Amino acid sequence: MKTLIKNGRVITAVDDYYADVLVEDERIVLIGESLAHLEPNVDKIIDAKDRYVIPGGIDAHTHMDMPFGGTTSADDFETGTFAAAHGGTTTIIDFAIQAKGQSLYTALDTWHEKAAGKAAIDYGFHMITTDLPRERISEMKKLIHDEGVTSFKMFMAYPGVLLVDDATIFRGMSAAGEEGGLICMHAENGIVIDEIVRYAIEKGHTAPKYHALTRPTQAEAEGVNRAIRLAEMAGSPVYIVHLSCHDALKRVKEARDEGIPAFAETCPQYLFLDYTAYEKAGFEGAKYVMTPALREKWNQDELWTGLRMNDLQVVSTDHCPFCFKDQKQLGKDDFSKIPNGGPGVEHRMNLIFNGGVVGNRITLNRFVEITSTAAAKIFGLFPRKGTIAVGSDADIVIFDPNKKVTISAETHHMRVDYSCYEGMEVQGVAETVLSRGKVVIENCKYVGRKGDGKFQKRSRVQHHIKESAYAKLNH
Ligand code: URP
Ligand code: ZN
Ligand code: ZN
Repeated sequence: MKTLIKNGRVITAVDDYYADVLVEDERIVLIGESLAHLEPNVDKIIDAKDRYVIPGGIDAHTHMDMPFGGTTSADDFETGTFAAAHGGTTTIIDFAIQAKGQSLYTALDTWHEKAAGKAAIDYGFHMITTDLPRERISEMKKLIHDEGVTSFKMFMAYPGVLLVDDATIFRGMSAAGEEGGLICMHAENGIVIDEIVRYAIEKGHTAPKYHALTRPTQAEAEGVNRAIRLAEMAGSPVYIVHLSCHDALKRVKEARDEGIPAFAETCPQYLFLDYTAYEKAGFEGAKYVMTPALREKWNQDELWTGLRMNDLQVVSTDHCPFCFKDQKQLGKDDFSKIPNGGPGVEHRMNLIFNGGVVGNRITLNRFVEITSTAAAKIFGLFPRKGTIAVGSDADIVIFDPNKKVTISAETHHMRVDYSCYEGMEVQGVAETVLSRGKVVIENCKYVGRKGDGKFQKRSRVQHHIKESAYAKLNH
């Protein structure tokens, strides 16, 4: 199958030029100023005049079909990836979860079963590790080397559920550092937060806004700092997930200025929404109960600066939807029982284009970098994914930079009954989307099939790291 994308403006993290792109089967095979002479020999022609031709988005943080907070996230791999495709995302990296005491392989098998034959776009897995005794380190290494699962999420939050202690984090980081893996950290001091939560409940503060009022920015900053310093001791890179505020960003910036390989993502909710969402009437605020919580509005400018200056490298969604009607209600009488998480996988690309490029906060190249290329590089998918280049997978978005759309739960494709951005008009739409050469969205309509998406093994990534505390003992 040969597809010619003609007349488009090709934008990558570093390039910006007009060219035709020839796709053969799953990959890009030729890019040239004019490939019109090939037209008689191709099966499909896509006219990308007045459109950008950009790499498919990579959302490095999603939770499909995830048991959490006494329920399960509302999108599974079928509905969630279908929605992602509509928004121009062609790869997600989702989180498998190891139950305490469980083999990492059992957890991986469970997530393979959840996703197999369902996904509309490609997917990979990080592994959430909830306990990692020395005996299990060999499994972690095998996941990195044999299974293409090269990143692991650990939690400093959610005591009694997902939290792991510092020794476990250090052990995991040491192994990751040695093997070219990466620890992704949910960096918030959950022990202190839970103490504040207990105090709030005792005082009868049960409304959704207390979710935010019990999670101070310092708890996140402390977690970020601890994660980075543990990584420094372990001789490992670290990736901070869903960074939400200036206090936490300062810690990442300090570390990067010291030459420590600390990376961080933020999410659209922290760039576009703020604390006042929790003050909406009635129980509405529950829609925005996610962790970390939404912060005071002034943090948003700091996060945009972080994205511009590369102290933040990635925008992911932390897509973890729960329906308002029958899932968020679990916390009707107690904010701490509201399932934490919100929907987002569908609108990341147009929100960031609209707020970033149209809003004059980032360049077009940076838009591509933070929505696709950087995640591909950090998580071992580059150059197979994350760019438009000969030999790369033909994960391509024909993006209309002028078209406007109004976000609404009435029209979105995520299986959740509300949108955090209800009524917001955004400029910039993924019009046609190719996933490994196959058109899955054509003129904004889904034309793919479930099962088109395939599991992607990811490579190890090496970083310049200082000598670890363990290595010093081996001299
Ligand atoms: O509120 C959130 N973020 N839910 C998903 C789980 C997590 O911590 O990423
Ligand atoms: Zn998290
Ligand atoms: Zn998450």
